[in-house]
Amino acid sequence: MLKGKKILIGITGGIAAYKIPLLIRLLIKNGAEVQVILSPSAKDFVTPLTLATLSNNPVHSGFFDNETGKWHSHVELGLWADLFVVAPATANSIAKMNLGIADNYLLTVYLSARCPVMIAPAMDLDMFKHSATQKNLTALRARKHIIVEPTSGELASGLCGEGRMEEPDEIFKLITSFFSKKKQFKGKKILISAGPTFEAIDPVRFIGNYSTGRMGIEIAKSFANQGGEVFLVLGPTDLTVDHPMIEVFPVTTADEMFDQCQMQFPSCDIAVMTAAVADFKPKVKANQKIKKTDNDLFLELTPTPDILKSLGQKKRDNQLLVGFALETNNEVENALIKLRSKNLDLIILNSLSDPGAGFRHSTNKVTIIDRHENLKTFPLKSKTEVADDITSAIATL
Ligand code: CTP
Repeated sequence: MLKGKKILIGITGGIAAYKIPLLIRLLIKNGAEVQVILSPSAKDFVTPLTLATLSNNPVHSGFFDNETGKWHSHVELGLWADLFVVAPATANSIAKMNLGIADNYLLTVYLSARCPVMIAPAMDLDMFKHSATQKNLTALRARKHIIVEPTSGELASGLCGEGRMEEPDEIFKLITSFFSKKKQFKGKKILISAGPTFEAIDPVRFIGNYSTGRMGIEIAKSFANQGGEVFLVLGPTDLTVDHPMIEVFPVTTADEMFDQCQMQFPSCDIAVMTAAVADFKPKVKANQKIKKTDNDLFLELTPTPDILKSLGQKKRDNQLLVGFALETNNEVENALIKLRSKNLDLIILNSLSDPGAGFRHSTNKVTIIDRHENLKTFPLKSKTEVADDITSAIATL
């Protein structure tokens, strides 16, 4: 799977370093060539002998080899690698990588590496949340480095929270997908809408829905992993998106989402509208909080613009337009009506009557219908897999 791929692993001084031998074993088993660099403090957590044995290569940690007296060139290693994976990456090393501080061998290699860089942060939850760390990570993302988001769980400090390095098998999957994905959307621009919209009633209340945006985010990632340049217009959500090929445009209301989509669509080759857009908004937004009374309250609602339909009306022949249909009854019939009336090339039907499908699930079950009205029904899968099925179907168009 990774035959001939040259992977450089940089280990910095965090307790999660003890998991890296497992990652190296997986990489070697799958045909990769691996070289390892240890930061000075990483040696306290994992031994060079273990790493050298598993990687079949001597481990690098300093500018000089004490045994041979030879000088190691940091430039050589940086040029050798197809991918540089820094895991675990401590808050300290992340900060130095951002600032370009080169006070150890690993950091000099980082500064001279020309290959893509993947960083797997590992630290205590408060260090991870600290604005200094977050700013450093944002800067590294802007440098198009791939950040392997840490997971939530029990930390070495005994505290529980976000900051735990992703497990070796998950990092391995990211590395293989980095190398294996066909870059079939390279050079293509893709517009995606995702998440809910919130329509204000007064300063504290809104009309919204249960969408988390997860399906749209997974589709964005699937396109981006295959080389596409993605513009993600994202309604309010707690989920974060972190991919060098995805530019996020946060919006709150249907009107804002409409404006942003109108702006991006003309320069895009493909548009996939996954957002659960509120179909109605209050006709007026109260300036002050509406006070409780004993009387019934009537809200006058007015329709929001149908974003997908408006894009269907202005779609050029060289553009593909994909919509979703969220249905509770007469599913296929309703999806076909949307496919025709909104001038779509493809519609993805998900039914709320399927267990595990739709809002607030990490799984989904979809039927993909093309413009010739051919149907393909898929089993219940993770939203990541469903996203890959959807982008494959789009690729065949
Ligand atoms: N959509 C949109 N703008 C809206 C409403 C929907 O872009 N104001 C898009 C959705 O992102 C989705 C498709 O239209 O891709 C269908 O959305 P859905 O909620 O299933 O249907 P509606 O068109 O809103 O119709 P209804 O609610 O009556 O089923």
